[in-house]
Amino acid sequence: MARHLITSAIPYINGIKHLGNLVGSQLPADLFARYQRGRGHEVMFICATDEHGTPAELAAAKAGKPVAEYCAEMHEVQADIARRFALSFDHFGRSSSAHNQKLTQHLAVKLFENGLIEERSETQMYSPTDGRYLPDRYIEGTCPNCGFESARGDQCDNCTKQLDPVDLINPHSTISGATDLEMRETKHLYLLQSKMRAQLEKWIDTREGWPVLTTSIAKKWLTDGDGLQDRGITRDLNWGVPAQFDGAPWSGMDGKVFYVWFDAPIEYIACAMEWVDAGKGTDWERWWRTDKGAEDVTYTQFMGKDNVPFHTLSFPATILGSDEPWKLVDYIKSFNYLNYDGGQFSTSRGRGVFMDQALEILPPDYWRWWLLSHAPESSDAEFTWDNFQTSVNKDLADVLGNFVSRVTKFCRSKFGESVPEGGAYGEQEQALIADLAARIAAYQAHMDAIEVRKSAQELRAIWVTGNEYLQSAAPWAVFKEDPDRAAAIVRLSLNLIRLYALLSAPFIPDAAATLLAAVDPEDNSGQAWPTGAAVDFEALPGGAPFSVPDNLFAKIEDAQREDWQNRFAGVRD
Ligand code: MF3
Ligand code: ZN
Repeated sequence: MARHLITSAIPYINGIKHLGNLVGSQLPADLFARYQRGRGHEVMFICATDEHGTPAELAAAKAGKPVAEYCAEMHEVQADIARRFALSFDHFGRSSSAHNQKLTQHLAVKLFENGLIEERSETQMYSPTDGRYLPDRYIEGTCPNCGFESARGDQCDNCTKQLDPVDLINPHSTISGATDLEMRETKHLYLLQSKMRAQLEKWIDTREGWPVLTTSIAKKWLTDGDGLQDRGITRDLNWGVPAQFDGAPWSGMDGKVFYVWFDAPIEYIACAMEWVDAGKGTDWERWWRTDKGAEDVTYTQFMGKDNVPFHTLSFPATILGSDEPWKLVDYIKSFNYLNYDGGQFSTSRGRGVFMDQALEILPPDYWRWWLLSHAPESSDAEFTWDNFQTSVNKDLADVLGNFVSRVTKFCRSKFGESVPEGGAYGEQEQALIADLAARIAAYQAHMDAIEVRKSAQELRAIWVTGNEYLQSAAPWAVFKEDPDRAAAIVRLSLNLIRLYALLSAPFIPDAAATLLAAVDPEDNSGQAWPTGAAVDFEALPGGAPFSVPDNLFAKIEDAQREDWQNRFAGVRD
């Protein structure tokens, strides 16, 4: 039995995610986790909310809540939506947890001891009225370039010129409006990534079979010089992991926290500790410490392409630089972007369909199927309502749903509600079985390689194969003259439904559970993954009870499609 550690990029706390976010990390990670569990492997699937940084502070201020309270609430909101999307995290943690704080501070100390963090002095805007140093985004003033009056400290939104807060004319604090800002000398911690270039390059070069998207981004950042500059890893914020703490080998960092991108990936590890605290497990070290059993763990990360530099370079720099035996990632699966109906999904502008809205109109399996079968793997992809309607109606309703309904209803009317006995599988059945065996092997190979679209295509082909068989074997036509033959056809078809339920569960877990409960209500056949000799077409023996499942998938009507298209055309507040 193999062991799989699987992480999805941890979503920012500020707001509910849209479908583009979902398909870029959490959903394919869930697909892979469910598949590996289905294969009988041991899985630790982790996700969390990414709670620190300026965006969290700003969103809390906008909501009129203390940031800790805002984060606690939004964490519950996101956890609830994840559950309703059937995302099967073993734990959904919080980057603001005490474990993450401790581990982040610990790793920073290690990096410092290894000569990879140093203190650097710089001058920065201080606001006596606010009693704090102001991050660039908290300072506004007139742009020296174009005269725009609300240019931000880091950039002018009008002429796009990159700015330094000192360039601004009449700068003021966006917190209090104070204008009595002064430049003061202050210290920050810098991670000396430039010192680690050779080590990181060597590590990346030894990764085998990584997706082109992942390695090309990593390589670009490595060689461009830009990516591996030494980076300031502290910020002047109140909300975050404090950079000054008991046992810190530096002083003068009061009022500063670590940069959110420094502590967020560390939460992948801390989350496993939270998992133990939650009573879900007892030993996190065998997943994360290579000196405590994690050397035989396969660790796979899922993320959108914008996250790749942080996972191929920054986080490995933290891990490698600590010189402690932490598990490093084995495979990074990254995704391009999903666009929405002729434009981009946008969280700030509320454009597109968000996870909560999606579930208001249809059950999760409809979305899971469309999103996964159209995952933006080799290029960006686009969600359109037309395409969504077509896939759902064809793949789920016409192919899978229709097969199930025809088989179970025909059986009930001719043989009653138990698997028909009599007859034997003949040539046509043997041909089907051989065809399916090859297809199941192909499906598994794609799933093992995390080729999401190809897996979906093969699964659909497996469904289609059953439909074609049923159509040509035509039990309704042979029933009168040869009821035994019809019985064998139906028995095989019911077994196909069971097979489909097992194979489809990673994609459409709710429908799969409904199918399994219908054809094998007493779970007599076991739920072992159907592979090799275990692809058993007599798993449901003659005489076993079954029931006709309720309409598995409803078709999307044109009127609904138009209605939704209009409803989501605007922006949400
Ligand atoms: N919150 C980031 C995003 O949504 C992802 C953080 S992933 C981690 O893009 F590595 F930092 F954990
Ligand atoms: Zn300007």
